[in-house]
Amino acid sequence: MSRMIKIRVPATSANLGPGFDCLGLALNIWNGITFEPSEKLTYHVTGEGAEKLNKGTHLPWQAVPGRNLLTKAFTLIHEVCGKDMKGVKIHSQNEIPMSSGLGSSAAAIMAGMFGANEILGNPLKENEILKLATEMEGHPDNVAPALFGGLVVSVMSGDEIITRRYEIPELTIVIVKPNVQLSTRVARAVLPKSVSRTDAVFNIGRTPLVIDALRNGDIELLQKIMEDRIHQPYRLKHITGGMPAYRVAKQFGAAALSGAGPSLIVFVPPENVEKVKKEINKAFNELGIETRSFVTKPSRFGVLRI
Ligand code: HSE
Repeated sequence: MSRMIKIRVPATSANLGPGFDCLGLALNIWNGITFEPSEKLTYHVTGEGAEKLNKGTHLPWQAVPGRNLLTKAFTLIHEVCGKDMKGVKIHSQNEIPMSSGLGSSAAAIMAGMFGANEILGNPLKENEILKLATEMEGHPDNVAPALFGGLVVSVMSGDEIITRRYEIPELTIVIVKPNVQLSTRVARAVLPKSVSRTDAVFNIGRTPLVIDALRNGDIELLQKIMEDRIHQPYRLKHITGGMPAYRVAKQFGAAALSGAGPSLIVFVPPENVEKVKKEINKAFNELGIETRSFVTKPSRFGVLRI
């Protein structure tokens, strides 16, 4: 590595209602990462999650057992390519809130893998990176749009991950993150192991309609069909204020739990932004839950070298 490499990776919202573990959308919220030649391997974060992520980064990299996803992914790519890691100073300027359902883990994995691949002269193709990132994350629906941008459908088929990417218009998106803890591990553990045929049919029909509505920017259709019966009802019960806030959100736009939660994502007509933010915040606040809200839009770009 002879000079600085700068990349940025978008946040993502997975599932989008019925598309559990298959659908994901890149958002205009970013983690920007620089890789600079250095004597040593170091990693430092500013912005979202800095306090948590910087724990132990003053120690030599190899001495920190549970080191973060970005450096794990960075290391893995060197191992896969049979290359020694040289000194590099990694700095992340992160806008993606952690543990929110906005794909911060997927972005960190993608940043580590894409950055290492750039440094090594791009020995791995996009699909090889997608496969390694999916193995690390456990499912492809966040890492695929983090890589490709836009709206991405992804399925695992044997050894392969099959994806299709779609452009979608500049829709207005409101995200409300309640200040409650719901890790993806717990949010997956509360799901039933099997679903009824009725619930499967409910989701199967709605998933392609969500894709169609998003591609056409048809918020009215999206508002009717962005519903789910295989994960949201189970998860919302574990988020204080989740169910009333979700019901309120649905009155103003097309709402879903973002990824495994706890954030809600709402596609709204631009004139509803302030109202929807106020009403969702109120639904959570009335139960003593603090919130943060973001207004964003889809990103047609995935991870980018800048
Ligand atoms: N599809 C995943 C889930 C996304 O719902 O558990 C969160 O990582």
